[in-house]
Amino acid sequence: MTSFETALKSTANAVEHRLDELLPRGGRIAEAMRYAALAGGKRLRAFLVVESAQLFGAAGAMDAAAAVECIHAYSLVHDDLPAMDDDDLRRGKPTLHIKWDEATAVLAGDALQAQAFEIIADMQASNAAKLALIQSLAQASGAQGMVLGQDLDIAAESAASPLTLPEITHLQALKTGALIRWSAGAGALLAGENPTALHSYAEALGNAFQIQDDILDVTGSEAETGKRVQKDAGAGKATFVTLLGLSSARKRAAELVEQAVSHLAPYGTQADRLRDVAQYIISRSA
Ligand code: IPE
Ligand code: IPE
Ligand code: MG
Ligand code: MG
Ligand code: MG
Repeated sequence: MTSFETALKSTANAVEHRLDELLPRGGRIAEAMRYAALAGGKRLRAFLVVESAQLFGAAGAMDAAAAVECIHAYSLVHDDLPAMDDDDLRRGKPTLHIKWDEATAVLAGDALQAQAFEIIADMQASNAAKLALIQSLAQASGAQGMVLGQDLDIAAESAASPLTLPEITHLQALKTGALIRWSAGAGALLAGENPTALHSYAEALGNAFQIQDDILDVTGSEAETGKRVQKDAGAGKATFVTLLGLSSARKRAAELVEQAVSHLAPYGTQADRLRDVAQYIISRSA
């Protein structure tokens, strides 16, 4: 493993440990929440929170990281439902509605969303920092953020004409980009600092991340990604790959990574891990 991979794994272990402490126990919904949130996943969003907090020496990063991983896990549970992408494999295991049933998947997703805000409300940080985190996470997750992106993604499947490049970029900035942007800005908010440069970094990063996700749908394996592959084209998904093909999508993702890294200049070598994240995102196979 490279030192970057070791750091990513170590943050993944730490956030899973913290989630294990924070998530409820007992009963069907609690068990389902733990199933969705505790095991597997790259924990990229958690890593962005931890690394951005480290730039400012801000405390409390692990709870903010756990919170965004709860929102992300909820988004995956709902994304996999038959009414959305209809998937039966996630993080190498049966999806939640396959393991339990659809009602349990809807409710466990709902509860994970509420849990995220409870975690931030309860964490050790100033009230001002917590309010800023809660407000921005609500915005990134909701009807003007991830949820809107998911709606546009589903609508695109039955659109009369294919989405244009700017339309796909907008859709992806919301469905995937919004939570990645929040994660990279969280450390600055925790420290009461300005998140603008980190947001610019993460906007390009989130876009590259979703393009790589779309590339892996075509070129990846179920064993490595832990989810079904070769589904997007048949489902009529609007992606860079379905619109432009693999090589243009790869080129675009590489350009976005350059763009992302250019926004880290103000942080010097302190931001090297965030530079590594950008390279990792387009080279990953999972
Ligand atoms: C998958 O996200 C869903 C997208 C937004 C593309 P990740 O690829 O980060 O999934 P995990 O958390 O590693 O399972
Ligand atoms: C999912 O995008 C985005 C969210 C869950 C918000 P995808 O539908 O492409 O993600 P995968 O490929 O199922 O992980
Ligand atoms: Mg989807
Ligand atoms: Mg999906
Ligand atoms: Mg996908």
